[in-house]
Amino acid sequence: MQRLVSVLRQDGVDKDLIHLVNVLGAACKEINFRLHQGALAGVLGSTQDENVQGEVQKKLDVISNTLLKDLLLDSGLVRALASEEEDDIVPGPESGQFLVSFDPLDGSSNIDINAMVGTIFSIYKAEAGEVSQQSFLRPGREQVAAGYVVYGPATLMVLTTGQGVKMYTLDQTIGEYLLTVPHVKINSDTQEFAINMSNQRHWAKPMQDYIDDLLQGAEGPRGKNFNMRWVAAMVADVHRILCRGGIFTYPWDRRAPEKAGKLRLMYEANPMALLIEQAGGKASTGTERILDIQPEQIHQRVAVVLGAANEVDTVEQYYRHQR
Ligand code: AHG
Ligand code: MN
Ligand code: MN
Repeated sequence: MQRLVSVLRQDGVDKDLIHLVNVLGAACKEINFRLHQGALAGVLGSTQDENVQGEVQKKLDVISNTLLKDLLLDSGLVRALASEEEDDIVPGPESGQFLVSFDPLDGSSNIDINAMVGTIFSIYKAEAGEVSQQSFLRPGREQVAAGYVVYGPATLMVLTTGQGVKMYTLDQTIGEYLLTVPHVKINSDTQEFAINMSNQRHWAKPMQDYIDDLLQGAEGPRGKNFNMRWVAAMVADVHRILCRGGIFTYPWDRRAPEKAGKLRLMYEANPMALLIEQAGGKASTGTERILDIQPEQIHQRVAVVLGAANEVDTVEQYYRHQR
């Protein structure tokens, strides 16, 4: 099996970008190790603090953030980084050629129940000159690479550099990510959906109608039965879709009407949208393509509908009929 670095070289990826992916991979190996230590290392549970978004930080959110931040800044490759767990951007050396945004630990409510979590990252080429929040506010279609590491029964890195999507499994005996799925492809049709059904009463009408129709199964307007899954970690739900198809959505809801959604554009929706599109799927807000959104803030939220192309189109039709 081929090592991550040799696959990237073979694909003709820029050597600094290869180096950067390698640094991210190294930080994630360390996060993986800490996760596996669990209670033995005293890393479970919450801190006393909240992040800038008013969410309680888990100890592992903070540990993962620090590991990534330290290794990325130390690499000399990163002009600045943005993280779910940092209020503002963190500048790096002027020599840095890349801007990196990340969710250090996605699905962190799963940590204390020993369920799947992951690290999500998004990479842009930095422009010359001063760096500020403004430097990060570019549409997702400009990402030069995006991916995640999912920590489950096996640990995998799933990556795109704009030439499709590949999966690498971490061989813990040699500490290398080895290519295990060379061409990830999502079927255009599906009979599996992922949504937090407990929020049903808060959704907008088009989402209510769409899910109602799925739930009616073979007897309803869709004429087929649908299965449901929800891991409560976007990274794991998206991973399932890249493995066996499906549609995932976290829509706008009335609990926080001023927010476009729960998930964050820069380090959750955009990198996942690039992966999904590169695997032949679609990623939308319900009304527009996620990768075309012009960001206004680094922590901005967005409604997300992604996965099987025909199913995402169907959701967009429900939204169009509403207007
Ligand atoms: P994070 O742990 O980084 O804050 O993200 C959690 C997100 C996402 O991963 C997941 O899909 C969603 O929150 C789960 O939300 P519910 O708890 O509402 O199901
Ligand atoms: Mn997250
Ligand atoms: Mn997180």
